[in-house]
Amino acid sequence: MLQKQPRQWWQLGVSRVTVAAFFISVTLLYCLSTLQVTFTPPDLPVPHSCALLPDRQTSQSATANGSQQDSNICVPKVDIMFMKTHKTASSTFLNILFRFGEKHKLKFAFPSSRNDFLYPSPFQHTYVGGLKSGMCFNIMCNHMRFNAPEVAKVLPRDTLYITILRDPAKLFESSFHYFGHIVPLTWRIPGEDKVAEFLRDPSLYFNPDGFNSFYLKNLLFFDFGQDNTLNPDDPRVEESIRLIAERFNLVMLLEHFEESLILLKDMLCWEMNDLLFFKLNSRQENSVSKLTPELRAKALQWNGIDWKLYKQFNLTFWEKVEAYGRERMAKDVTELRRRNAEMVKICIEGGHTVAAVNIHEQAMQPWQPFGERSIRYIFRADWMLWGEG
Ligand SMILES: *[C@@H]1O[C@H](CO)[C@@H](O)[C@H](O)[C@H]1NC(C)=O
Ligand SMILES: *[C@@H]1O[C@H](CO)[C@@H](O)[C@H](O)[C@H]1NC(C)=O
Repeated sequence: MLQKQPRQWWQLGVSRVTVAAFFISVTLLYCLSTLQVTFTPPDLPVPHSCALLPDRQTSQSATANGSQQDSNICVPKVDIMFMKTHKTASSTFLNILFRFGEKHKLKFAFPSSRNDFLYPSPFQHTYVGGLKSGMCFNIMCNHMRFNAPEVAKVLPRDTLYITILRDPAKLFESSFHYFGHIVPLTWRIPGEDKVAEFLRDPSLYFNPDGFNSFYLKNLLFFDFGQDNTLNPDDPRVEESIRLIAERFNLVMLLEHFEESLILLKDMLCWEMNDLLFFKLNSRQENSVSKLTPELRAKALQWNGIDWKLYKQFNLTFWEKVEAYGRERMAKDVTELRRRNAEMVKICIEGGHTVAAVNIHEQAMQPWQPFGERSIRYIFRADWMLWGEG
């Protein structure tokens, strides 16, 4: 029954937006159709895991030695909280998560009404669509203002928490261009170079209580549910960063996206092909900063908390890379880039999508949960999600 749905929809040849809407509705439909299997006794409101025991375990052990589970077999982790930060190309990462979710038949906790969990209000578990007591999800990844105790109510106890940070000066610049016009106080900034004028004296154009003002100051810290207007030297900042470090198992860095993905693969026991993503030029352009060194310094000072946050997690990031092995990391990044390049060559050269049957290399075949035709839609989703971040 579910098999037919995507084909009918797909054959309409609809726009990207519709494809996105379709994708989400199919996933929701899927979640709904599997509801009865995942209900658990009421004394365990959030079970260990709600995955539908994907064939990964059985197929591996079946081909090896009957039903005997080798304790050394690395079983992919499927319970994931991705804290989607703003202006960090996190939509690209979302696409990786969606693909993984389809492959392992995982259940996503989606917002009930909008595209996000009523950002900027702090997350409440009631914002999740169709949440019922005793129900469980594997992955939550839409925009939210993080609120740890409420998030914990929605996801299994073994959930791994992941997020991504970006250089705060570039993030500020990007956020200013993208959200500036919805922060009313910026409307009266004179001149051509509004970022420069704002940074010259932010106090003229910034009101901490103003509508949407969080977009223009320590946006990362705000996304984590913290007070973005604190003085960076306030002890509460240090304490919050400590709590974030405790809560999040992996903090990725946009500037080292591929290394981040390799660390993720290692932690979650994923396969290299789970990490493939389309690297389009738009991101390259976006990440080129137009800030002069002076403006960059001002931007970092203005976003002092985010700068502290970034430096702290930059430190732990490279410690993790060190622990993983620098050479091993370099080798894996090269391999990831090779596979990405190969996929781009196979799939999107010539600007059109290809059917799965035309992809001959087994390793390049994406997962086909709804039958072989869905490959087109997977690729289209990749295209679409990239530009949005
Ligand atoms: C399965 O187990 C047998 C005996 O324990 C062993 O000889 C054989 O190599 C195993 N096969 C695989 C594929 O691990
Ligand atoms: C991040 O860490 C690396 C390695 O320790 C260091 O070279 C770099 O300067 C750091 N960057 C920031 C912004 O702290």
